[in-house]
Amino acid sequence: MSRPAPTAADALVFFGATGDLAFKKIFPSLQAMVKRGHLDLPVIGVAKAGWGLEQFVARARDSLEKHGGFDAQAGPKLLGLLRYVDGDYADAATFAQLRQALGAAQRPMHYLAIPPALFPKVVEQLATARCTDGARVVVEKPFGHDEASAVALNAVLLQHFDEAHIYRIDHYLGKAPVHNMLHFRFANGFLEPFWNRGHVESVQITMAEDFGVQGRGAFYDATGTVRDVVQNHLFQVLANLAMEPPVRTDSESIRDEKIKLLRAVRTLQPADLVRGQFNSYQAEPGVRRGSDTETFAALRLWVDNWRWMDVPFYIRAGKNLPVTCTELLVRLKRTPSVYSAHAPAANHVRMRISPDVTLAIGMNVLSPDDERVSQPVEMLASRHPGAGEMDAYERVLGDAMHGDPTLFAREDYVEEAWRIVDPALAATTPVQAYAPQSWGPADAMRVAPPGGWSDPKL
Ligand code: BG6
Repeated sequence: MSRPAPTAADALVFFGATGDLAFKKIFPSLQAMVKRGHLDLPVIGVAKAGWGLEQFVARARDSLEKHGGFDAQAGPKLLGLLRYVDGDYADAATFAQLRQALGAAQRPMHYLAIPPALFPKVVEQLATARCTDGARVVVEKPFGHDEASAVALNAVLLQHFDEAHIYRIDHYLGKAPVHNMLHFRFANGFLEPFWNRGHVESVQITMAEDFGVQGRGAFYDATGTVRDVVQNHLFQVLANLAMEPPVRTDSESIRDEKIKLLRAVRTLQPADLVRGQFNSYQAEPGVRRGSDTETFAALRLWVDNWRWMDVPFYIRAGKNLPVTCTELLVRLKRTPSVYSAHAPAANHVRMRISPDVTLAIGMNVLSPDDERVSQPVEMLASRHPGAGEMDAYERVLGDAMHGDPTLFAREDYVEEAWRIVDPALAATTPVQAYAPQSWGPADAMRVAPPGGWSDPKL
């Protein structure tokens, strides 16, 4: 696919500027960009709150104070870059005001931090007000609700933006350890000989969160775990773990390998999906009584290609689990050891994405206490991310501003990801209750890897 030379955006417009995501993630990321000298352009917030610039600036300051701190230099500079447009997204006057606020900007970046149902309306309005000329658009996940709605959404976006100017955010791709998975795999020759069906017994990915829906009940209830984090974040992790080496390191060569991998993933069978819901979820504000939305999912997938045929892949994700941790475990087939009295454990490679960043190789040694006994140990490299490291949102927003699409989901990828989960979601398998702070419903064992789920220990 040929791409125009990347050109930096010259204004940042963000819709949903008074919302939760802006408060928790976007303002702190913008301040970090200013601090690094990466942001010096007008930042125009758009929302319907009945506010003026003063209130918007106060909101930004509050966000910075509560999330990481107000930086003495970068904070005031960011506040000075802010502009604000208040109005309804259905009202053409809002977009006329935005056109005015854009002034002489030639290449605005419109970031839609709003519910996907509003995308079509906002995009149409942007086009009518001539705010799409030379522009790029950044959209939040989940991109659509299923394959059909993603196709429809793409069609709306493609009427006014070409694919090279559409950035579908998956902030997981902006996390350094997720990106580092490719480096770890392809910069280390020792992995390759066993990174395949000949040696790998199973792969499991766990994304556990020890908190509930944190006031996002209405969003979450319409979404559920599979749409919230599996179809996007965890499939990206799966792709990094299982894809073939890209022929080059440009964005399209990498994204071509990801889509190839997803195409090989068999459509999820309803019997391979276990959905759970933590007790008391239905008492959360915004959640429907009698809701059957899952707050936990465990699933088994198969990657039908030369490298991975017959190796089961497992994904488990949920809210209100015992820890907050995202971790991958690649378990190898056992050796036919005759060396010790007890069968040695399977070797493994463990990668932790958060809260700490860990790469570990699990192996067996003789117990110092009893030399007839094999004992598993890990050789590991582990560190906690430092304060100055780039946050995922800072990285992806910066990349979109500079026109680098590598860390964004391409249209074909998003549709393929929906193809995998759609039928199982449509089958509305029963949702099973689980106790908060447990590892989900007992039924999750039904789709457990051979040797069981490995519960991350902090
Ligand atoms: C978001 C989901 O995309 O990712 C949330 O909507 C989830 O439900 C979050 O908690 C996890 O991301 P992070 O970066 O906070 O681990």
